[in-house]
Amino acid sequence: MTIRFGIIGLGNRGYKYALRTIQHHQEVELTMVCDAFGNNFHHFPTVAHTTDYHELLANPEVDAVFIATPDDTHAEIILAAVKANKHILCEKPLEISDEKVALIEEALEGYDKAFEVGYVLRYARSFSKIKEFIENGAIGQVIMAHVTDHVQYGGYAYFHDWHRTREKSTSLLLQKSTHSLDLINWYLDSKPEKVVAFGDLMVFGEVGARQKFGKPVADDLHCGNCPISSTCEESIQNLAKEKNISWSDNWPDNCVFNSEVDVDDHQTVMIRYANKAKATYQLCQFAAFYQREFHFFGTKGELYFDDVSNKIIITDRLKSETLTYENKHEEKNMEPGDEEQLQDFIDAIQTGKTPVSNLESSVLAGKLALAAQRSIDNETIETIK
Ligand SMILES: NC(=O)c1ccc[n+]([C@@H]2O[C@H](COP(=O)([O-])OP(=O)(O)OC[C@H]3O[C@@H](n4cnc5c(N)ncnc54)[C@H](O)[C@@H]3O)[C@@H](O)[C@H]2O)c1
Repeated sequence: MTIRFGIIGLGNRGYKYALRTIQHHQEVELTMVCDAFGNNFHHFPTVAHTTDYHELLANPEVDAVFIATPDDTHAEIILAAVKANKHILCEKPLEISDEKVALIEEALEGYDKAFEVGYVLRYARSFSKIKEFIENGAIGQVIMAHVTDHVQYGGYAYFHDWHRTREKSTSLLLQKSTHSLDLINWYLDSKPEKVVAFGDLMVFGEVGARQKFGKPVADDLHCGNCPISSTCEESIQNLAKEKNISWSDNWPDNCVFNSEVDVDDHQTVMIRYANKAKATYQLCQFAAFYQREFHFFGTKGELYFDDVSNKIIITDRLKSETLTYENKHEEKNMEPGDEEQLQDFIDAIQTGKTPVSNLESSVLAGKLALAAQRSIDNETIETIK
């Protein structure tokens, strides 16, 4: 049976996922797209479009929706999609506050349609292979984890875009780090109970401007009209070179030193789990390169992975043995995990199974990130309820 899809939000994530992944799936038909500002409609010339998501949800020819709007709009749209009785694939994070996440949980109680969240790394081959190794006891009982996200050049766009204000994203621990925090929860297979964290804004925003230029920059400064954009290490041009993107992709290019920036640009987090496992996590937005790095310590050995070498290295404690697993699968036209994530959603629709990235796991990842930000703001050890 063909599943008829509607996409809500055709920005950076939405239009690419629709073009590269959804439209390519044999069991899927793209019926309607929606973007409040009409962004990227031109990529879907033969598909019905609207600027009002209510209209898309009222369309009886839409069975399932993919929500890829900014984080602070997810609760409102999920609630409306539940009322319209659609299968829902929503981008991560669920929302930007515990209160709004609670509204989503309440609306989804007893809901009999599929609900999946876009924690796509759970589906990426190297990350799901780590889960398989850990579950099969490759390093015994996992007791400690140490994870670092390196992010470079203007926070890899985070500080050029809406992610940079607490009003729109609450914290980059939620907007960026929940991918890694969700994976740590998944691998340690336990509930995070206590968290303590430290963080600050020291490189970007007004504090960064004062350090770099001795004074704040104009509120309307952006890379496109900036005299030093070709030499500034944080400029979107640097990012464009790194990511091989062109200006035609319309990347937001607000100056990372604008005074409205109020999210922290580095955080260090310590977590204790119900099963007594412990994890440390660090996010650095002014790193020299982009890399995710995972290190797990178990009763039998250690597991290391980084997504630049793309190798999983397992070292036994007692025998001097090392196992190296290298993921040779190359994703074509899509990001790692995109295709598998969609397949899991389709399976959930067709069989009623709980998706790998589900409501419960996503609620936990969000609660952990929000509690960590509260710990930073209030200098407290937070209990996650
Ligand atoms: N899983 C991933 O790897 C990944 C990657 C990027 C983004 N994301 C997530 O996807 C979501 C979107 O991020 P993005 O980078 O594409 O943002 P974006 O700003 O590029 O795009 C958001 C789009 O939503 C539209 N929009 C805003 N409010 C709307 C509304 N009420 N109705 C309809 N359209 C609306 C905007 O016009 C815009 O085109 C976020 O939740 C983000 O966390 C996930």
